[in-house]
Amino acid sequence: MKATLSWLVLFLGGTIISQSEVLASKSSLSDVKRVTNLGTVSNKFIVELSEASEIPSKRALGTQHEELYRFLRKRKITFDVHKEYDAPGIFIGAALTLADSQDVTDILKLDGVVAIRPVRTYTPPKPISSRPVSPGDAGLPDSEATHITTGVDRLHAQGITGKGIKIGIIDSGVDYTHPSLGSGFGPGFKIEGGFDFVGDNYTGDNTPVPDSDPLDQCFGHGTHVAGIIGANPGNEFNISGVAYTATIYAYRVFSCQGLTSDDIILEALLMGVKDGMDVLTMSIGGPDGWTTATVMVVSSRIAASGKIVTIAADNNGASGSWFSSRPGNAIDGISVASSDNTALPLQTLTVEGVEHAPIFYYDTFPLPINGTLPLYATSNDTTVADDACNPLPASTPDLSKFVVLVRRGTCVFATKLANIAAFGAKTALFYDNGIGFASIQVGNFTAALIQAQDGVFLGQHLAAGEAISVTFPQSGGVAQYPLPNGGLVSAFTSYGPTNDFYFKPSITAPGGNILSTFPVPLGSWIVDSGTSMAAPFMAGSAALLLAVQGRTTSVAKTARTFFQATAKPISSSFTNGSPFQTVTQQGAGLVQVYDAIFSTTLLSHTELVLNDSTHFAGLQRFTVTNTGKTGKVYTLSHLPAGTAVTVTPDTIFPALGPVPLLTQYATVSFDTAEFTLLPGHSHEVVATVQPPSGVNTTTFPVYSGFIYVTSGNESVHATYIGLAASLKDKQVIDNTDFVFGVPLPALLDSFGNFQDGPLNYTLVGDDAPTVLWRQAFGTPVLRLDLVTADTTLVGALNPRTPISFTNSHAGGSFAKVQILGPLLEMDYLNRNDEGAFLDNTFVLSNVFANGSGIPIDASCRVLLRSLRVTGDPANEADYESWLSPIIGVVA
Ligand SMILES: *[C@@H]1O[C@H](CO)[C@@H](O)[C@H](O)[C@H]1NC(C)=O
Ligand SMILES: *[C@@H]1O[C@H](CO)[C@@H](O)[C@H](O)[C@H]1NC(C)=O
Ligand SMILES: *[C@@H]1O[C@H](CO)[C@@H](O)[C@H](O)[C@H]1NC(C)=O
Ligand SMILES: *[C@@H]1O[C@H](CO)[C@@H](O)[C@H](O)[C@H]1NC(C)=O
Ligand SMILES: *[C@@H]1O[C@H](CO)[C@@H](O)[C@H](O)[C@H]1NC(C)=O
Ligand SMILES: *[C@@H]1O[C@H](CO)[C@@H](O)[C@H](O)[C@H]1NC(C)=O
Ligand SMILES: *[C@@H]1O[C@H](CO)[C@@H](O)[C@H](O)[C@H]1NC(C)=O
Ligand SMILES: *[C@@H]1O[C@H](CO)[C@@H](O)[C@H](O)[C@H]1NC(C)=O
Ligand SMILES: *[C@@H]1O[C@H](CO)[C@@H](O)[C@H](O)[C@H]1NC(C)=O
Repeated sequence: MKATLSWLVLFLGGTIISQSEVLASKSSLSDVKRVTNLGTVSNKFIVELSEASEIPSKRALGTQHEELYRFLRKRKITFDVHKEYDAPGIFIGAALTLADSQDVTDILKLDGVVAIRPVRTYTPPKPISSRPVSPGDAGLPDSEATHITTGVDRLHAQGITGKGIKIGIIDSGVDYTHPSLGSGFGPGFKIEGGFDFVGDNYTGDNTPVPDSDPLDQCFGHGTHVAGIIGANPGNEFNISGVAYTATIYAYRVFSCQGLTSDDIILEALLMGVKDGMDVLTMSIGGPDGWTTATVMVVSSRIAASGKIVTIAADNNGASGSWFSSRPGNAIDGISVASSDNTALPLQTLTVEGVEHAPIFYYDTFPLPINGTLPLYATSNDTTVADDACNPLPASTPDLSKFVVLVRRGTCVFATKLANIAAFGAKTALFYDNGIGFASIQVGNFTAALIQAQDGVFLGQHLAAGEAISVTFPQSGGVAQYPLPNGGLVSAFTSYGPTNDFYFKPSITAPGGNILSTFPVPLGSWIVDSGTSMAAPFMAGSAALLLAVQGRTTSVAKTARTFFQATAKPISSSFTNGSPFQTVTQQGAGLVQVYDAIFSTTLLSHTELVLNDSTHFAGLQRFTVTNTGKTGKVYTLSHLPAGTAVTVTPDTIFPALGPVPLLTQYATVSFDTAEFTLLPGHSHEVVATVQPPSGVNTTTFPVYSGFIYVTSGNESVHATYIGLAASLKDKQVIDNTDFVFGVPLPALLDSFGNFQDGPLNYTLVGDDAPTVLWRQAFGTPVLRLDLVTADTTLVGALNPRTPISFTNSHAGGSFAKVQILGPLLEMDYLNRNDEGAFLDNTFVLSNVFANGSGIPIDASCRVLLRSLRVTGDPANEADYESWLSPIIGVVA
């Protein structure tokens, strides 16, 4: 195996971008921090070593680890060892801190070093919304709804609940004192084992304080995850986990701060394997776009070795296409998208004086209002736009004894509340004006939102002179509000595919509005949303599959195939005639656990990757096996999904979510559309896919869909994705002034101003320029070099530079171009997010990346080069280049 230097950089720090933040407008140069932003833990690296058997000559000298340290000492490299990894067949290596990060180049030269990668930090995918619920609110069938839409209820009815299967949760630990999680820890308990790798105060780059107790009573994320898998039935909410008799191990990698890092996750993964977990699940993520980072490579190897690894697809749907996540992109793992639950527990009020069913108001807890109060409307016109936006007329009565009914709109709720409070009002009901039924900001005022039709009904009856009063039941008022998007893919789910065109996400499971356990000191129960909730649902489903089909590596290796083949494609909306959601957000569809487990038709492949137009694989073959007891006649058919317009027309930027869909579809033909299989027999399907016509390649349309194999009431499918354009045509460097109002890439001077001509620097301390750039698309190789001032390029950003490259990029002599020295190389860099406007920065110092000093009196420029996706690292024409203004180095 060849050594590679991989700077796999997390620029976005796992931040979750909400829709409103995305709509925030452009950034200012003064917001750019003049520090190198590599998103990594400073000077901490993971070195991967080859297996001992691969370097027989070295075996006599001791372990690979000792060999590495001996080499480092010989080279006078100062280092600290944080962790050693020794899992033959999966990962051998060490996490090191180097006194000087420039030493990575030297370390790569050692025989037996496979790769060295910086350590990055992670946050758990943040809950999109989170709502505490009251233990008094009995009878919420929330988790039941998710079980019904996926067939888990039918398995539970047959007594299939995951007994004997071990699931390792890599998360924030768990509050095992929770009565629904078994009230204990250790042998004989539901939470049988685990480990705390971090302690309460880990920030990602301080010293972790590990111990053997994974208790979490401060953060809660892992406890919610654990309940989705394993909550015991018979609790006050009448819910249950998907696999509630499975055995759980909790590996705590998030502290109370909710931060972790690569080296810790790696350790947890390897301990999970050692402890004999059948399933490992991670609700962890950060934007990446590639499949190459250590945690992904290791997760994928663990999956390939016959464990099931389920990973959240992440919550960056608002950022649009080509924004898949680490470690979700682990090639052989199951990356899980989220679907919205069909119902949400909300409170209701009852009405007297007119005939009306109980009315939903948007709150988890009852409004604290005793008894029955009369209703007063601030306007008798239920179409008035600015109801209560102005001071109420002097004729308004004392409102302290009323519940005041106000129409939403024009001004903020606080204004309306101030106007009614001026007449003594203490409680209010707002009715929606079409914006949408949701939680509203009313500060500490006792008020909630009701739906438009309910408000109009009440308002019209008040206007007709009828006396109406309302009651807010303090218990038993909760009911299931049917969510309008229930069952659709949650808008927050991150979109794939990966930049190297792997099929991600893999599948969808319920993750939007999920009620589950929470640490006892934090309230015991909570409703959360996120792919963090979908991944454990899949982990529980995997446990049910293993419980029925057997705890064998062969079952584990085919699990994803079974689940994908039987998943149910999800529409993009409930509007008639709308296309199915792009596979780049839903994967193979919503998991159908019962169907997956009892399917009697097996497909050899369920992910058909047609790749881009340059590497087009339009001829696809997969084998259908009849594993049933009777002969079957199968027919083949095609169900297309919407074609995703992944790049906004007339721009170089990926479209933000929800990604627009076209109904121009691929067409699929088969060599035979029907075939018969006796029990145990197989048939190879040959499908020819023709990409959609009439789509514009400049928008990089990703087409996708499902090839169905149907026999009677049983149908399974393989899912395809393809790109109707060439990835190499995608511009990777943002050379627009869209974000900062100045063209990028750019140099900022020591005051943070745009440098538009030659400038002198000492390159000491703050007196140094900052290179500021953004990736409009992911890049396999990004390099910064210092070149002489007289170097020229044709055009500011030229994909066909006059410079000729001769070597591959490994090592220091990348190109024939006269470079003074290398500044930075990063491999497999993700794109920047157009919405959050985060950027990449590198501050020059007076040394090159190889450690030698930058000469005083040099007159030079920064040469930035970024390789296009699928480009050849040795081919100049595959790079985009940019030359900075002149930098004079002075004493
Ligand atoms: C509790 O859930 C079970 C199914 O799990 C259902 O049969 C039962 O009716 C539910 N009970 C209540 C009180 O909702
Ligand atoms: C964690 O940090 C808190 C607050 O800084 C401190 O009180 C506590 O002692 C720390 N705990 C450990 C184990 O270091
Ligand atoms: C409602 O009544 C209960 C019981 O009498 C009392 O504890 C509570 O304070 C009252 N709440 C309000 C808002 O008046
Ligand atoms: C409600 O909030 C306002 C402003 O934050 C504050 O002045 C007032 O005291 C609060 N009232 C109560 C009852 O907490
Ligand atoms: C609305 O109409 C009713 C019945 O005519 C009347 O009593 C009430 O004062 C009116 N409200 C307002 C705000 O004008
Ligand atoms: C798509 O094609 C590129 C170029 O050949 C290749 O590197 C990549 O692995 C392919 N993707 C998949 C998922 O096969
Ligand atoms: C494709 O889109 C580009 C950019 O929007 C436009 O210039 C071009 O005319 C379009 N091509 C076709 C065939 O519609
Ligand atoms: C399909 O039909 C057969 C025969 O009618 C029945 O036994 C079986 O339960 C059905 N399967 C499903 C998944 O509905
Ligand atoms: C940079 O320094 C050189 C040498 O001292 C001087 O000749 C030149 O004018 C300076 N350039 C700028 C832009 O200050």
